[in-house]
Amino acid sequence: MNYLITGASRGIGYDSALTLAASPENRLFVLSRTEKGLEQLASNAYDKYGHHNIEIRIADLAAVDPVQIHDWIVPFGNLAGVINNAGVLINKPFLELSMDDWTRSFEVNFFSIVRLLRALHPLLTGAHILNIGSMGGFQGTSKFVGLSAYSASKAALANLTECLAEEWKSDQIVSNCLALGAVQTEMLSEAFPGFKAPVSSEEMGAMVAWFLQNGHRFFNGKVLPVSVSTP
Ligand SMILES: NC(=O)c1ccc[n+]([C@@H]2O[C@H](COP(=O)([O-])OP(=O)(O)OC[C@H]3O[C@@H](n4cnc5c(N)ncnc54)[C@H](OP(=O)(O)O)[C@@H]3O)[C@@H](O)[C@H]2O)c1
Repeated sequence: MNYLITGASRGIGYDSALTLAASPENRLFVLSRTEKGLEQLASNAYDKYGHHNIEIRIADLAAVDPVQIHDWIVPFGNLAGVINNAGVLINKPFLELSMDDWTRSFEVNFFSIVRLLRALHPLLTGAHILNIGSMGGFQGTSKFVGLSAYSASKAALANLTECLAEEWKSDQIVSNCLALGAVQTEMLSEAFPGFKAPVSSEEMGAMVAWFLQNGHRFFNGKVLPVSVSTP
């Protein structure tokens, strides 16, 4: 089973990849902008499981030509799943957000995923696309001051998930979105210093990895809240 996980150098992406690496039947394609965390992931996985099944790519999703990502994976065959996990959170009140902040938020959290999925489509027959959304982008939940650009970009991703499930149904491609509540990661600590999340990155990574491998049998086009704290 080939799986692509974006933003795997730390946090939820790292822990999802570490869980998926346990099976020698899986081959993981992991990417992020920085090498250190990805190298650490590969060496931790080897120490833990005793096999090498992680392919690393350094790429900024906001800048990379997605065809390069396709060409990197194609010699290994089709993908069984993709976790669109890489994300950026800019925490500023609405009037302080510059248009560059809005562009950056949507480039990383939304348009990079659009570009990537367009390029990867030939490899996705039978695959599970798992978009990592947020409770902030889930209609009707509590909203937080400072997160308008972030939340709006995640809401767009949630809607795209529903649309793709319909458009790509005949290709047997399943799309789901997990709208996560607070998880203890660098992103959360930077945005909300001192806040203690009820779920660890390791716990959420294991849950995301499980859902990637099993959720497509039960859900398609669903945006599912995964939260024990956000109303
Ligand atoms: N933590 C939470 O409470 C929470 C709640 C709801 C949703 N989420 C979502 O869960 C996902 C993971 O979040 P996290 O908390 O684990 O965040 P994190 O600790 O900040 O990790 C983000 C990951 O994305 C990568 N990344 C960021 N920008 C990138 C870019 N332009 N190109 C390639 N990779 C990029 C980072 O690696 P590099 O810096 O090396 O590029 C890193 O591996 C995000 O989509 C986030 O919005 C998190």
